Amino acid sequence: MIFVTGATGNIGRALLDELRTHRDRHRDRHREGRRTDTVKALTRDPARAALPDGVVPVAGDLAEPESWKSALHGARSLFLPSLLGPDDRIVEAALEAGVEHIVLVSSITVQSHPHLGPAQENLAVERLVKASGADWTVLRPTQFASNSLMWAESIRAHEPVHAPYADIPLPTVHPADIAAVARVALTEPGHRGRTYALTGPEPVTARQQVGAIAAALGRDVPFVEVDRRDAYERMAAVFGADAADAVLDVTGGDPNDELLAVRDTVTRITGAPGRTFRQWAAENAALFR
Ligand SMILES: NC(=O)c1ccc[n+]([C@@H]2O[C@H](COP(=O)([O-])OP(=O)(O)OC[C@H]3O[C@@H](n4cnc5c(N)ncnc54)[C@H](OP(=O)(O)O)[C@@H]3O)[C@@H](O)[C@H]2O)c1
Repeated sequence: MIFVTGATGNIGRALLDELRTHRDRHRDRHREGRRTDTVKALTRDPARAALPDGVVPVAGDLAEPESWKSALHGARSLFLPSLLGPDDRIVEAALEAGVEHIVLVSSITVQSHPHLGPAQENLAVERLVKASGADWTVLRPTQFASNSLMWAESIRAHEPVHAPYADIPLPTVHPADIAAVARVALTEPGHRGRTYALTGPEPVTARQQVGAIAAALGRDVPFVEVDRRDAYERMAAVFGADAADAVLDVTGGDPNDELLAVRDTVTRITGAPGRTFRQWAAENAALFR
């Protein structure tokens, strides 16, 4: 059994789809009925989660592992995005349940900005998982294409997007590519004990992202570059004051080679080309209408 946390999130939803496609392909190839893993998905609200057919919902709050840990029994693998809950207690519950392999979503900032608080928190979770005694695979994605949803309200209201660092090119990753790598790590051999930095296939600036959303909508979306002080006010409202400076550093304020590098990890592991921001915008245009 594979136990998926963060199952209704940007990565989790795509991972459930990936696992279903994998199961269907596997079933077609092995008509004699070799079994694939059951997939269980944790969500606080199964009624709203709209999970794919065949996925077993587990109602529970990541914040309270004791309330759902019995559902982990029999799980071979755990998919765990870091810092959504008390990772130490979640890993402890997984070990008690006999989980062999943890696929952890950490962050590229562990290697690009190790001095920042959020990077240190992710590193601490990586260390916890690596020291747990279970096998592990660590994914370190860069910023997600879906972060542009923070502009959705302005775009839906036909107001300009305000963003800093308009022309810093970052290799934004499509969450479905993180999910595709996670699926391979969860179901195929050769990925235990590995740490993978994950990016999109090309750099894209904030201005270009807004341009791609505008193209997907078929209309202009005005863009206004703001300075760091103005951006800080906006970021602090979303992420809190402590995290706002770190978010600004890693979204363009303090770029470095580790943050800017385009990597081919997604293609090497999945065999498919990495998805572009344009593709993400086309798939998600309805969220900006
Ligand atoms: N965004 C970025 O640029 C970026 C970059 C690097 C790494 N990351 C990492 O990526 C991960 C976030 O992934 P994502 O974008 O796929 O997630 P997301 O879209 O933010 O979704 C969060 C998920 O976690 C679940 N969740 C949250 N709190 C919960 C709770 N108390 N109990 C149960 N479930 C809870 C939600 O499920 P329900 O609502 O259904 O319960 C939801 O499925 C984090 O580990 C983050 O550190 C993000």
